[in-house]
Amino acid sequence: MAARTILGIEASCDDTAAAVVRVPDNGQGPGEIVAERVLGQADLHAGFGGVVPEIAARAHAERLDTAVAGVLESVPLTKIDAIAVTAGPGLIGGVLSGVMLAKGLAAGTGLPLIGINHLEGHALTPRLTDGIAYPYLLLLVSGGHCLLVAVEGLGRYRRLGSTIDDAPGEAFDKLARGLGLGFPGGPVVEARAKTGDATRFTLPRSVLGATDGRMSFSGLKTAAVRVRDGLVEAQGGLYQRDIDDLCAGFQAAVAEVLAIKTAWALARFTETHGSGGVLAVAGGVAANATLRAALEGVATEGGSTLIAPPLRLCTDNAAMIAWAGGERLLAGAIDPEVRPRPRWPLDTEATPLIGSGRKGAKA
Ligand code: KG4
Ligand code: ZN
Repeated sequence: MAARTILGIEASCDDTAAAVVRVPDNGQGPGEIVAERVLGQADLHAGFGGVVPEIAARAHAERLDTAVAGVLESVPLTKIDAIAVTAGPGLIGGVLSGVMLAKGLAAGTGLPLIGINHLEGHALTPRLTDGIAYPYLLLLVSGGHCLLVAVEGLGRYRRLGSTIDDAPGEAFDKLARGLGLGFPGGPVVEARAKTGDATRFTLPRSVLGATDGRMSFSGLKTAAVRVRDGLVEAQGGLYQRDIDDLCAGFQAAVAEVLAIKTAWALARFTETHGSGGVLAVAGGVAANATLRAALEGVATEGGSTLIAPPLRLCTDNAAMIAWAGGERLLAGAIDPEVRPRPRWPLDTEATPLIGSGRKGAKA
């Protein structure tokens, strides 16, 4: 099938990324990723236990050229039909760098420029990777996001749940920092949890209202830090086993809260759209095997199928931005004003939530 070739640019958090994606003319996936470059920054932020906005902004400004030039080695600009760039939400320094570069390229080439909501990029990834039809339910869980959203069509997103404080990946990172395990926290906490006893410490499951989609991970993190402090006081320090058990207990609590809320959201989704649909998961925390197993259970119970894009497309990347740009180009749904926005909710009808993340809006 004929397709549009879209250049995507992403620089809203701590990955500088460019990609070229071919989007079939009927707007249905899967798409073809022709070229991609992701220049991560974990090494730059590791010593700080989290993303430092100023360092991230400088690194994006320095590396965007390299990422974009890299993908244009495989596909010349003359073969590109449009340029899509993340215009928010995210760290404003990086968003600005990406938008300025994209505006320059668009002005120089005369190509259409499409500003994309980063969360829309994540939300549409299962269409890029697996050709999933609308509607479906998405759980997006990363260092900056925690969102349960009914993806009903292009630009039609209904938020069913979200965190009111920390995102799950952020909580993993903070626990790891508190235990001296380095950054990013998720992978190392998961590794330590493998040999740990998840039942040794009693940690809270903050499900808040049982009949809504609100989540909270900040109390869990604080409870885990208290357990650490108690052990240090009683024993004069932590044994390796203490760290393993605390990681295991923490991971089990996060997975349980996410599973409970996803099951609730899936039931709401099914009420509206019928059963047999897809539950998609995305974001860096989707790498967690305990969480995936819990979500498999939720999907099976709810008569749904779990779809998880390959990890490199679950985490921040530019292919998802290019894909979203392609869908928008084909649907004629392009806002001519590409304005960098640090905050930009996906569901503009939903009431704002309290709390903000280290990476800006989580919902
Ligand atoms: O999607 P991502 O690469 O970047 C954004 O935050 O947007 O997600 C990174 C987050 C980090 O907080 C990291 O600790 C978490 O995902 N993460 C994990 C795992 N791998 C990465 N959390 C739990 N278990 C993992 N295996
Ligand atoms: Zn993201």
